[in-house]
Amino acid sequence: MARRTIVALPGDGIGAVVLKEAVRVLDAAGFDAEYIYGDIGWDFWCKEGNPLPQRTIDLIAKHKIALFGAITSKPKDEAVAELAPELQGKGFNYSSPIVGLRQHFGLDICVRPCRSYKGNPLNFIRRGKDGTPEEPMVDVVIFRQNTEGLYGGVEWSNPPQQVYDALMTHPKFRENFGWCPKEELAVSTRIFTWKYTERIVRAAFEYALKWGYKSVTVCEKPNVIRETSGLMWKIAKEMQKKDFPGVQLWNTNIDAQMMWLTKNPEEYGVIVAGNMFGDIVSDAFAGLIGGLGFACSAQFSEDGIGVFEPTHGSAPKYAGYEVSIVNPVAMIESACMMLDYIDEKAIAERIRKAIADVIEEGRVKTYDMMKLTGKPDVTGMGAASTTAMTDAIIAKLK
Ligand code: NAI
Ligand code: MG
Repeated sequence: MARRTIVALPGDGIGAVVLKEAVRVLDAAGFDAEYIYGDIGWDFWCKEGNPLPQRTIDLIAKHKIALFGAITSKPKDEAVAELAPELQGKGFNYSSPIVGLRQHFGLDICVRPCRSYKGNPLNFIRRGKDGTPEEPMVDVVIFRQNTEGLYGGVEWSNPPQQVYDALMTHPKFRENFGWCPKEELAVSTRIFTWKYTERIVRAAFEYALKWGYKSVTVCEKPNVIRETSGLMWKIAKEMQKKDFPGVQLWNTNIDAQMMWLTKNPEEYGVIVAGNMFGDIVSDAFAGLIGGLGFACSAQFSEDGIGVFEPTHGSAPKYAGYEVSIVNPVAMIESACMMLDYIDEKAIAERIRKAIADVIEEGRVKTYDMMKLTGKPDVTGMGAASTTAMTDAIIAKLK
C-alpha cells in the first residue's frame, strides 16, 4: 500500500489528547501514513478571529481525509470577550468550525456505528422473560443526514413579511397560527431535498449490503410529518424494491424507537434518519454501548472527503489533567472507520480486535468504564489513564 497522507486536526482540550493516542495505535498497527497537522478550534478563534482558518480548509480539500479530535465552542458573547485585544471590535463573529466544515465541504452523510464490546461494564443490561439478566449485543449503524432538515438553519423569529404571507397561503397555517401576531412567531423549517435524501438512503442500503446487515430501518415519523419523513420513506421503499431487494426495509417512528430502544436493540442493523432524528437515535443507541467514550463517527461528502471524529467534545474539565483520564476508544474507533473508508480494512479489524480483547479481559479500564466520577485521583482508584488504555490496546495488536 502506498503511503497515505492524513490531515490531523487535534482541536481543543481532550480532542488533542485522544487524537495523539489514535495516531499511536495507527502507527503500531503498521498503517503507513504521513500526518499533516491542521489548525482548528478555540486558540485560532482567539488569536486570528477564525476557528477554521482557510489554510486548514485548503489542507482538507487537498488531501481529502481528516482525523479530527474535538473543539471547544462557546456562546457568542463569551467568544467575543476572549478574542485577542487587537481583534476586539473589528466585527469578528464566532461560528462553530464543525458546522463550518460540514457546510463548506457538504459533508451530508454522517455515519455513527454503535457496537457493544463483550465484557464492557457499561453495556446495557435488561431482564429477560424469566427474570434473568440479559446483555444484548448491539450492532447498529446510524446514517444521519447531516446538512438539511431541522438543523438546516432556515429559521426566523418575527419572519419577514414575504415569508409570513407565503405561510398564510397554507390552510393549516391560517387555521392554527393565523391568530398569532407576526412579531410573536418563531419558525424553524424542516427542509428535505430529494437529492440528499436519496443519497443518505442509498448510502445506508449500500452499507447494509457491503457489511452484511439484514435490514435498513427508516426512523422518522411519516404518519405525521408527511412531506419530509414521507419523502424519505417513499424513496427508501422504491430504492429497496429496485436496487436492494436482498436487504429488508423496516420503518419505525422516532418516538416509538426510543420506547423500544431497550426492548430489542439487538434486532436493528442499519438505521437511516434525517438530521435531528438521526442525532437523537444515534445518541440513544450510543448510551446502550457505553456512551461518549465509545461513540465514533464519520462524515462524508459527495466528492469523497471524509472526516472521522469521536462524537464527544473537548471535555474542558479534563483537558488540563497532568495525567489524562479520558477514554481514547471513541477516537481510535473513529480512526478504524477511516481505515475502512480508505480500504485498509485488515488493519481496522486488527485494531478493533485488540480493543475487544482489552475490554473482554477487563483488566485495563478507564474511569468511565469503572463508573467513577472523573477526577485526577481515579488512577489511584484503579482506573487506567488514557495512555495506559492505549498501551493496553497496542499490546494486544497481533
Ligand atoms: P463533552 O463531550 O466534551 O463532555 C461531556 C462529558 O462526557 C465529559 O464531561 C465527560 O464526563 C464525558 N466524556 C466526554 N468524552 C469522554 C471520553 N473520551 N472519555 C470519558 N468520558 C468522556 O461535551 P460538553 O461538556 O457538552 O462540551 C464541552 C465542549 O466541547 C463544549 O465547548 C462543546 O461546544 C464542545 N463539543 C464539541 C464537539 C465536537 O468537537 N465534535 C461535540 C460536542 C461538544
Ligand atoms: Mg448529539
